[in-house]
Amino acid sequence: MTSLRRATAQAPANIAFIKYWGNRDHRWNLPQNASLSMNLDGLYAETTVTWADDQPSDTLVLNGESASQEALARVSTHLDILRSRLNIRSRAEVISKNNFPMGAGIASSAAAFAALTVAGTAAAGVELSERELTTIARIGSGSASRSIPTGYVEWHLGEAHENSFAESIAPPEHWALIDVIAVVSQAHKRVGSKAGHRSADTSDLQAARVAGAASRLAVCRRAVLERDFATFAKVVEHDSNLMHAVMMTSDPPLFYWLPPTLAIMESVRNWREDGLHVCYTLDAGANVHCLCEQSSADAVRSALQTIDGVVDVRMASAGQGARLISG
Ligand code: PMV
Repeated sequence: MTSLRRATAQAPANIAFIKYWGNRDHRWNLPQNASLSMNLDGLYAETTVTWADDQPSDTLVLNGESASQEALARVSTHLDILRSRLNIRSRAEVISKNNFPMGAGIASSAAAFAALTVAGTAAAGVELSERELTTIARIGSGSASRSIPTGYVEWHLGEAHENSFAESIAPPEHWALIDVIAVVSQAHKRVGSKAGHRSADTSDLQAARVAGAASRLAVCRRAVLERDFATFAKVVEHDSNLMHAVMMTSDPPLFYWLPPTLAIMESVRNWREDGLHVCYTLDAGANVHCLCEQSSADAVRSALQTIDGVVDVRMASAGQGARLISG
């Protein structure tokens, strides 16, 4: 008899204030430094997992199309982790969609692996703690651990799989920060973060970046908890610049910025001097995340729209973590 067990989960993208770049252990995604982020309300992956006993292999439909072998292999590897933890042997049908451009500096893999972990676990009828769900999601994509808890989230370094987990440090309503995202490229990035983490240590600068990460995180955590925008802006831009300096000095060098990226970064610094509460941060892509206090968000959006090369502007406030929609 065929038995079908199905669940659907939604998980948000997140934007890191203190970045994760480089692993101590690539198989388990044990990071070289702890990181801190905010979930992005309204930018999410929605994933349905069906464990089907009569299916010979895993299948993946991504944004309405049958996924590439590469994407399927990565999802299947994560399903193997779930099968082993949940004690099941069935293959899975996975249907996932994102409501934002993939692979362009908005963390699509974070949302995807967080949603896959939550849906896959629920579909098997198993209840795991939030903490354990974050460690499992982490194996799929490090930053996915931060897309499960709510609001402002810290991913702890940990010594091993069990204690490299993420937890909320404040709910979304704690501080009305808005991420105003200047989209300058919708293209899929050529070198993804998975390869980037592996090359981080080829940069002479990585050791220095990692050595200072814990103190930057402490400064940033305190700035978030105290809603101290000036301190926040300084440490967030510094941390992003450090990560991109590592990327550019790695072998092979990784240059994610495009000419409009640099123009936006300069404008953001000027707008801050003129009194707007805004700072920038960039992930592994050309798009610029302009983090603002709510009072500055509309002005920043209008100003971004006048910059050459900006093809779209998206706004996301601090949001909830992953949640089960059905199942
Ligand atoms: O989780 P990954 O492997 O996609 O790595 C994320 C890397 C950055 O987005 C650049 C930084 C971060 O902490 O989110």
